[in-house]
Order: sequence, then structure tokens, then C-alpha cells
Amino acid sequence: MDALLNYFNIRKTELKPAAIGPRSNKVVNLELRSDAILWLEEDDPELNFYFKLIQSITDILKRDLFLPIRQTETQMAYYTKDQFYDRHRDRHFHSGHRWVTAVYYLNQNWSKGHGGELVIYKDLEPNAPVIIEPISNRLVLFLSELEHEVKVTNVTRKSFTTWFRDDIK
Ligand code: OGA
Ligand code: NI
Repeated sequence: MDALLNYFNIRKTELKPAAIGPRSNKVVNLELRSDAILWLEEDDPELNFYFKLIQSITDILKRDLFLPIRQTETQMAYYTKDQFYDRHRDRHFHSGHRWVTAVYYLNQNWSKGHGGELVIYKDLEPNAPVIIEPISNRLVLFLSELEHEVKVTNVTRKSFTTWFRDDIK
């Protein structure tokens, strides 16, 4: 959506190298993850329509899948050429507060060979990962406990990432 891409481009100067680990122990590790991120405020009026979408997904996760979602957190992520995010989980098995990860991509001219695909490893079929191309206006949802990675990108790669959590602020 153009409005989200405009928003991303305006706030791009505020991006910082992404840190990993629990909130209390964040470290920047360029061998694991080399993109830059910015945490977003969920009451930002410019993002009203995005957070309405997130709210309707929260409602579905709670009502139809019975997940104990109580809050969400959202960041913008920006990868430039040669950047990546190595294989990881967003939630460690049986601990942690993230249940579901949503990623919304803003890459209008993405084509095969540009790289930066999201690869999700299913626990029961380790040889058959799911490969998702980060094309514009695509929203992907997956369980945060599943291992996944962002392949090295050959072009800039922009996205919004939201996590659905079971704790409160
Ligand atoms: C993450 C992540 C996937 C993507 O930020 O934890 O895995 O496709 N992102 O950007
Ligand atoms: Ni992740």
C-alpha cells in the first residue's frame, strides 16, 4: 500500500541496527542479523489503517483459534544489499510471549533473483521448507515458534513486522 511505503520512507532515517534476544538483554549480532529496525507506536494516527488490520487479526486469533493474545508489538525492518537474518525462532519453544508473527512487505519491484525470501522450516517436514517471496502488499502469518530465516537480499527490502503476544505492556 502506497501510504505505508511513504510512511516507511519518511521514517527511514530513524532506523537503528537490529538487536536480538529478550527485552532485558539485547545485543547487536551482525553474524546473525544485519538489518535495521524501528519500533512503532500503535496509536500513531498515520498507521491507523494498519493497526485496524492488526486488531481484526487479533480478534480472529482469539475468537477462532483460541489463542491468548493480549497485545501486539510492531517494528519496521530495512535490509540493504547483502543483509539477512539467519535461521531463528521468534519465540523459544514453550517459553516466551510471542505466539504469532505477521510480516507485511513493501517491495514493489521485487523479482526472482533479488533474494531476501522468507524461509519457514516446518517441524514435521524439515526437508520441505516454505519459501515466501517478499513482494509488495503480501502479509504472511506464521507461528512464532517455527524456525525461519531471511535469505541474503540483493536489493533493499522493506517490511512491517508485528508480533501477537500473550502478556501485557
Ligand atoms: C523477524 C523475521 C521475517 C521477514 O523479524 O524476526 O524473521 O520476512 N522477519 O522479514
Ligand atoms: Ni523472525
